[in-house]
Amino acid sequence: MDPLHLRSAGVSVLLAFDSGEAEVVHWGADLGEDLPELGLLRNPVPHSALDVPVVAGLLPQASSGWLGRPALRGHRPAPTAADDGDPGSAFSPALRVAAAEAIRGGRGARIVHADAKAGLEVTSELVLGEGGLLEITHELANTGAGPYCLDELAAVVPVPGEASELLDLTGRWCRENHPQRHHIGQGTWVRSGRHGRTGHDSSLLVAAGTAGFSNRSGRVWAIHFGWSGNHEQYLDSLADGRRSLGAAELLGSGEIVLAAGEKYATPTLYAAYSDRGLDGVTERFYRWFRARPQHVTSEGRAGYRPRPIVLNTWEAVYFDHRLEPLLELAESAAELGVERFVLDDGWFRGRRSDGAGLGDWYVDETVWPEGLKPLIDAVTSHGMEFGLWVEPEMVNLDSDVARAHPEWIVRPSAPSPKDGGRLPLEWRHQHVLDLVNPDAWQYIYDRLDTLLRENDIAYLKWDQNRDLAEHGHAGRPSVHEQTLAAYRLFDALRAAHLTVEIESCSSGGARVDLGILQRTDRVWASDCNDALERQTIQRWTEAVLPPELVGAHVGPTHSHTTGRVHDISFRAITALFGHFGIEWDIRKASQAERETLRRAIALYKGHRQLLHSGTRVNADIVEPNLALHGVVSDDGGEALFAAVSLGTLAAETPGRLGLPGLNPERTYRVDVVLPTPDDGDWNDTFIQTSPPVWLSSGATASGRFLAEVGIPLPILRPEHAILLRTRAIN
Ligand code: GLA
Repeated sequence: MDPLHLRSAGVSVLLAFDSGEAEVVHWGADLGEDLPELGLLRNPVPHSALDVPVVAGLLPQASSGWLGRPALRGHRPAPTAADDGDPGSAFSPALRVAAAEAIRGGRGARIVHADAKAGLEVTSELVLGEGGLLEITHELANTGAGPYCLDELAAVVPVPGEASELLDLTGRWCRENHPQRHHIGQGTWVRSGRHGRTGHDSSLLVAAGTAGFSNRSGRVWAIHFGWSGNHEQYLDSLADGRRSLGAAELLGSGEIVLAAGEKYATPTLYAAYSDRGLDGVTERFYRWFRARPQHVTSEGRAGYRPRPIVLNTWEAVYFDHRLEPLLELAESAAELGVERFVLDDGWFRGRRSDGAGLGDWYVDETVWPEGLKPLIDAVTSHGMEFGLWVEPEMVNLDSDVARAHPEWIVRPSAPSPKDGGRLPLEWRHQHVLDLVNPDAWQYIYDRLDTLLRENDIAYLKWDQNRDLAEHGHAGRPSVHEQTLAAYRLFDALRAAHLTVEIESCSSGGARVDLGILQRTDRVWASDCNDALERQTIQRWTEAVLPPELVGAHVGPTHSHTTGRVHDISFRAITALFGHFGIEWDIRKASQAERETLRRAIALYKGHRQLLHSGTRVNADIVEPNLALHGVVSDDGGEALFAAVSLGTLAAETPGRLGLPGLNPERTYRVDVVLPTPDDGDWNDTFIQTSPPVWLSSGATASGRFLAEVGIPLPILRPEHAILLRTRAIN
């Protein structure tokens, strides 16, 4: 069988078949058309080893010598007549290529591996997108006669030996997506998520790279796993020198048992190669997102619409849902230029605190005697859209639905006439609705559908506020089925309400992945609105997600989650680099704060087209408390950078900072812009005897000069930021 060579945007994926299996013999830089005879890649055989070269297949397996983590694990529980008395071979299949073809005009491959004796067949698709992002999926079919118990089906990509460092992300509530990094030795580095949702600590990106790889330099091979349930991502580094990155759904014991003829499809593994550091990885993900017809800024969706400025009521009023203050808030928001007003938790029956009400998706008549209409009318008459918070997958025991249908609540042992069955431990006083139960699913669908039909709702903030612990259905683990049932709920509601946007929130950023983002329009990156924390959270969330999908709000002066105080300018500049919003009782803001907010909104409106279509760049800076990031337009005509002081600096002055990503051949004018009114010296932001000379006049220089020599930054106060507006003048 001839090799298949997928090429796109500077990336090659080369598949060889001469071993009888599909092997990815190269995933990395574009190789051009002139390829040698691939037999030359066969490895030598060492002493005290298998007597043949080990094949590192697309589906690594012990039957061809792979003693690292195999792609497929499972077994047949008992012999059946149809097994020919040999049920055992399924535990270690010998999957060999049965068919392979190019698809998607040569940018993709479909490969079928089969082991007829074991009764297993795996169909794999590899697609290299126009932006060079590789997608891999496998589908396993049980072609035998008896049941097959699946433990794992992983997707893996090879990583070359020159990758010596690994970076992944981790976190917790209010501190999502922080990087960690280590040297790659021998062994397996596994990141497991058993949260039943993606998880606050889930690694949005696992990146292996050459020594010292950074934002802008080094070669990087990175993966993301598009799944919102239990999962593992890993780097396997074997004693024979081979390395691979892989990911799989983490299945519970007996969770997937395929009857004869049944299939299991893996979530998608996304893989990005870059020869320009992490920013090159980011660029591939952004291109992939933005090429999707359902993307929020795509013409295909409902015609291009700029991302509207949001006001979310949570940190403004919490559960205080009196109409009068909410009407005042809406008026105050509209006056500033807000375009979407989102009513958060607290509007449905019994929801006077977080102890009750989840599941009763009816407007609470005691709090809203005339329904939501008076508020929605006020919001829309101000020219804003109305959005509503829901948490459809959850239930409080103190709710009508839990009282009427205790059997809809997920629990390890079902209620019986003798007892109520054992419940999992509570989390924020709540439990999980068993969406695998069709009646429960239908009830939730009908409630949400009715709410959307009866009210003028343009947006749902769809929350999911607990881990799924001891999660089962009919005596078996069921996170897999629950995740698919939740996906079906999103898909069905979207299909019925085409223009309604949905946000994926999960106690902040615990459900941020490309699986959920295929059916939602933005994520709530974190419950932490502290601008300092947000700088890191957003930098790393936006390593994969473009900023138009990342909710970023100007929070209260005193951060509710950290107690820190930041000035309005720093909070606003931080929120500008996402999908901008406000989450603060702005009725209490001072005149000066309102004026800054108004100017920040004008800046956002003036730059959102650039921010939500351009390339994100992150400068490499040695000083850990200084960051410079920005967005450069695709044509290189303009850019908006933020220089951010994350704390005190080691040096007296920040020195000259290079502006990355500009066109070296063009000439630019750079101006400092701040949302605070210009009082001549912006002393609230700077701490210096005299500013750099260009501060008042602006700087004019070529893109090459600005990148290589840079410009001296003013001395920022700790936890402050400035914007550098950069426009080509030739
Ligand atoms: C979660 C969300 C918050 C807010 C509350 C409401 O914590 O992350 O933004 O919506 O729920 O209960």
